[in-house]
Amino acid sequence: MVTVTVNELTRALDLDADALLIFALRGELALSGAKLGCGLEQCGSCVVLVDGRPTYSCTAQIGDVEGKRIETVEGLADAEGCLHPIQAAFLELNAAQCGFCTAGIIMATKALLDANPQPSRDEICIALDGHLCRCGAHPRIIRAVERAAAKLRAREA
Ligand code: FES
Ligand code: FES
Repeated sequence: MVTVTVNELTRALDLDADALLIFALRGELALSGAKLGCGLEQCGSCVVLVDGRPTYSCTAQIGDVEGKRIETVEGLADAEGCLHPIQAAFLELNAAQCGFCTAGIIMATKALLDANPQPSRDEICIALDGHLCRCGAHPRIIRAVERAAAKLRAREA
């Protein structure tokens, strides 16, 4: 058994410690936002936050994240179901095409904007460098990150 805390809910899972986090999220917890793409830390579609840091759930073992704070895209909307400003910006700018990459990019964006509320375009590109968008939506994604940053700053003002 392992015990994990995902989106502020703690659950005991009947898994071996070497089970991969992506399978725990998608298979055991029905959180299907993070996607299994390459399985090799090469595309970023599986990224979630562990203690606030972008983490490849395709290679992270569940035993290594026990007792840590795991955040997935499903935890971003508020209790009333209102989208997080990052999600709203992606929607407004049509930054998701097929959506396969989107959850990973949104979580990497959250980590970036938590640490740096006003990133430059270069800083955004560096933060998202490990994320492949097979649809080629990168220009819209970068604009969405800029808009999300502006929304969050306005919310804090
Ligand atoms: S599936 Fe994890 S990086 Fe591609
Ligand atoms: S929107 Fe299709 S892979 Fe990025």
